[in-house]
Amino acid sequence: MPHYFDPEPSAASDRRSVTLALPDLSLELATDRGVFSRTAIDPGTKLLLLEGPPPPAEGDVLDLGCGYGPIALTLARRSPAATIWAVDVNRRALALVEDNAASAGIDNVRPATPDDVPPEVRFAAIWSNPPVRVGKEQVHAMLRAWLRRLEPEGAACLVVHKHLGADSLARWLAGEGFATHRLRSRMGYRLLEARRETTA
Ligand SMILES: C[S@@+](CC[C@H](N)C(=O)[O-])C[C@H]1O[C@@H](n2cnc3c(N)ncnc32)[C@H](O)[C@@H]1O
Repeated sequence: MPHYFDPEPSAASDRRSVTLALPDLSLELATDRGVFSRTAIDPGTKLLLLEGPPPPAEGDVLDLGCGYGPIALTLARRSPAATIWAVDVNRRALALVEDNAASAGIDNVRPATPDDVPPEVRFAAIWSNPPVRVGKEQVHAMLRAWLRRLEPEGAACLVVHKHLGADSLARWLAGEGFATHRLRSRMGYRLLEARRETTA
């Protein structure tokens, strides 16, 4: 069965576009078959973009699981001096991010597979609508690997639906040593902020 997280989607390409309308910016984004939420901006993603904290003005910032790029491109517009890593396993999604950045005139987004990100890069922030449908163990492994690459003062901002395990994910993050707060809750979506626990 095809999934939005397949590295090479088998569905024939059929591009269309969606509008991302936010109070501070508007983007026309190309989408395609075989990528997540291709007919409309996902409501969880919209909540993250409306209610997430201001992103760091500079440094490296990660959109983990970027899809066609609504989060990465918004971060890039809001923080033009930052480098936004748009990471996904789905190569069709990465091609869309590249095209969407070019058509919006955005030049501070770096589309990349997970293995393409140099290991020494550390992130001032990580934003993600994570691929919870890949399964709990894989999501945990993915978050464990990337969140340990946060700078000491960095924070991760994640949106997850309560029916897809938002509350147990928050407990798991706390167990992994990340102080985790619910910033917002709307329509069942939880907006979580996770920061490394500091020992006094
Ligand atoms: C819920 S979708 C969110 C897509 C996009 N950020 C949005 O908001 O529309 C999660 C994305 O994570 C990607 N993904 C799945 N496994 C991944 C992994 N191991 N590393 C990075 N991205 C992954 C999927 O291909 C998918 O595009």
